[in-house]
Amino acid sequence: MDAIRDRRAVRRYTPQDVPDALVADLIDAAVWAPSAVNQQPWAFLVVRGRSRLAAFSERAKEHLFTVLPQALELHERSDELRQPGYNVFHGAGVLITVLAKPARYAPAEDCCLAAENLMLAAHGFGLGTCPVGFVRPWLNLPAVKDEFGIPQNYEAVMPIVVGFPADAPVAGFRLPPQIAGWLSFPEKAAASKI
Ligand SMILES: Cc1cc2nc3c(=O)[nH]c(=O)nc-3n(C[C@H](O)[C@H](O)[C@H](O)COP(=O)(O)O)c2cc1C
Repeated sequence: MDAIRDRRAVRRYTPQDVPDALVADLIDAAVWAPSAVNQQPWAFLVVRGRSRLAAFSERAKEHLFTVLPQALELHERSDELRQPGYNVFHGAGVLITVLAKPARYAPAEDCCLAAENLMLAAHGFGLGTCPVGFVRPWLNLPAVKDEFGIPQNYEAVMPIVVGFPADAPVAGFRLPPQIAGWLSFPEKAAASKI
């Protein structure tokens, strides 16, 4: 419960690099997620390098501004995104994207479970993570998939930046859960003749 409650979206990172071995551990945690009929429909794209990620951030923003402006208007972080120099990767040095491979049963849902495993494991290692939904439309462009060597029939589902957090985590906030139903059907006591 502590790990689940204390994991936060981290948006400020130290310059310290995340060792490759830790990145591999995070991916190992991801693949222990459950999946429909154990189909394990995931693949991972690892991109390292702050400067290169900053350049990709500019390209991803450009794509959002030109192709999807209406989606941005509805987005509560769109003002921040429009500030010059805003880095969608928050200055992290590693981006791990969970990619869904073609599969029969809802592969994207399985990939989301894998992504949560990865983020909780990262938290356990003292790392911070942040999902970056902003970059997903750009990563799924056919030309960008080609550039990264991703098969065209794979879909970027959850891009996640990883790094060492620069600040102590702030407290999270959650609405109380809405219980839409909680139905109890007690078994009838077995008829007894004794
Ligand atoms: C699918 C998805 C996309 C997200 N995209 C972004 C994003 O592009 N940029 C960002 O800073 N945070 C992004 N987040 C992080 C959320 O804003 C964050 O998880 C939420 O505000 C709850 O905060 P917490 O994770 O600290 O509890 C995304 C989260 C999810 C699940």
